[in-house]
Amino acid sequence: AAGAVPIGIEDLEIATGHHVLDLSALAETRGVDPAKYSRGLGQDEMSLPAADEDVVTMGAAAASALLERTGIEGIRTLLFATESGIDHSKSAAVIAHGLLGLPPHVRSVELKQACYAGMAAVQSAIGIVARRPQEKVLVIASDVARYQLASPGEPTQGAGAVAMVISADPALLEIEPISGVYSADIDDFWRPNDSSTAVVDGRLSMGAYQKALMGAWEDLQAQGGPSADQIDAFVYHQPFTKMARKAHRHLSQKLGAELDETPLDQAEVYNRRLGNTYTASLWNGLASLLDHAGDLAGKRVALFSYGSGSAGEMLTGIVRDQGDAAGRRARRLAMLDAREPLAVDAYEELHRSAELSSASDQETPQVGGSGFRFAGIQGRARRYERPA
Ligand code: HMG
Repeated sequence: AAGAVPIGIEDLEIATGHHVLDLSALAETRGVDPAKYSRGLGQDEMSLPAADEDVVTMGAAAASALLERTGIEGIRTLLFATESGIDHSKSAAVIAHGLLGLPPHVRSVELKQACYAGMAAVQSAIGIVARRPQEKVLVIASDVARYQLASPGEPTQGAGAVAMVISADPALLEIEPISGVYSADIDDFWRPNDSSTAVVDGRLSMGAYQKALMGAWEDLQAQGGPSADQIDAFVYHQPFTKMARKAHRHLSQKLGAELDETPLDQAEVYNRRLGNTYTASLWNGLASLLDHAGDLAGKRVALFSYGSGSAGEMLTGIVRDQGDAAGRRARRLAMLDAREPLAVDAYEELHRSAELSSASDQETPQVGGSGFRFAGIQGRARRYERPA
C-alpha cells in the first residue's frame, strides 16, 4: 500500500564446509569426461562438511559474521531454513540461537519445504517486520546436499549456508510486495525419514522446476508484478548452475524475448564452487551477483526459488546500497580458496562415515575451522561448541 514501510535484506553473509572436492578428479574416478560436469552441469567443485560440521555449525558461522556487522538489536525472531535437519523434533534454530549467544527473547523455529524453505523464511520474516517495523528477523538457510556415491546426483552435491537480517528500511535490497507463487504435489526429489541421501528422478525434477518457474511467473504477472523488460537481472535456485541457464532460456522462449544472460554469469561464481546448497543456493546466487555485477543501485532483480516436491516462488527487489562489493568478493573468494582439498578416496570415506548413529556416545575429531563445532553425541543428544 502507498506509504507502507519498505522491507527487505539489511545485510547477508555466506559460509561453507571445511572441505572441497575438485569435480575433475571425481570425473576421472567415475570414468566421465570432466566437461560433463564443468560444461554440462556448470559445476567445478563441491563443498563438503568436515566430521565436526553440519547445518547448525555452518549456519552459525554465517550468522555470527553477519551479526558482527549488523549487531543484534531489534532481532526477536530466528528462522532457520533447512532440508538436512539434524533432529525430527528440536529445531536447528534453537541450537544456533544458543551458539550465537542470542538473548532468550528471540523466538526460534525451523522451516522445511526442500530448497524453497529459504524463500519461505524470508517471506515469513517480511510478514513479522511488516507487523512491527522496529523488529528484525535473522534468517539462516543452511544445507548439506547428499546423494548416493556414484549416482547421477553425486556431482551436484554441496554444502553451505547464508544468513540474512530482514528489516524495515533495509540497506541492501528492498523486496517488493508482489510475488508469484506455485505449488504442486510431485515426487521429483525427496528424502525419506530413514535415509541420509536424497531420492531423485533427475529428468522429472528438471521438468518440475521449469513448470514451477512458469507457474510462479504467470502468477507474478497476474498479481500485477513487473514485466520482463522491467527486470534487470534474474537470479535462480542453482541445484547446478546450468539449471539456472536452462530455466532462463525456457522463460525467454516462452516470452518470445531475448533475456540477457550476463547476470547469470555473475550470479554463479560462488555456486560453481559450492555445489548445491539447497535452501541457501538462491541466496548464494544473490550474493554472487551483488559482488560481481558492478553498480546495481536502483536496479530490479527477480529471485526465483524452487523446492522439489514442489514449491516455486518469484519475488522482485530493488538494490539499494551494495556497500564494499570488492572487499566482500575478495573475502568470499579467499574463504573458498581456503577449503581443504580432499582426494576422491578420502571424500568417499567421509561420505560413508556421515551415517552417524545416536545409539552410542561418540566424539568427533576437531577439523572444521569456524570455531563452531558439532562435538559429538552424548546421551543420544547432539553436543556443540562455539568459539572460545
Ligand atoms: P545425468 O543423467 O548423469 O546427466 O544427470 P546428463 O546425461 O543429463 O548430462 C548432463 C548434461 O551434461 C547434459 O546437458 C549433457 O548434454 C551434458 P543438457 O543436454 O541437459 O544441456 N554433457 C556434456 N557436456 C559437455 N561435455 C560432455 C558432456 N556429457 C554430457 N562430455 C542430473 C544429470 C541433473 C539429472 C543429475 O545430476 C541429478 O539427478 N541431479 C540431482 C537432481 C537435480 O539437481 N535436479 C535439478 C532440478 S530439481 C531442484 O532444483 C531441487 C533440488 O535442489 C532439491 C530441493 O529442492 O531440495 C535438487
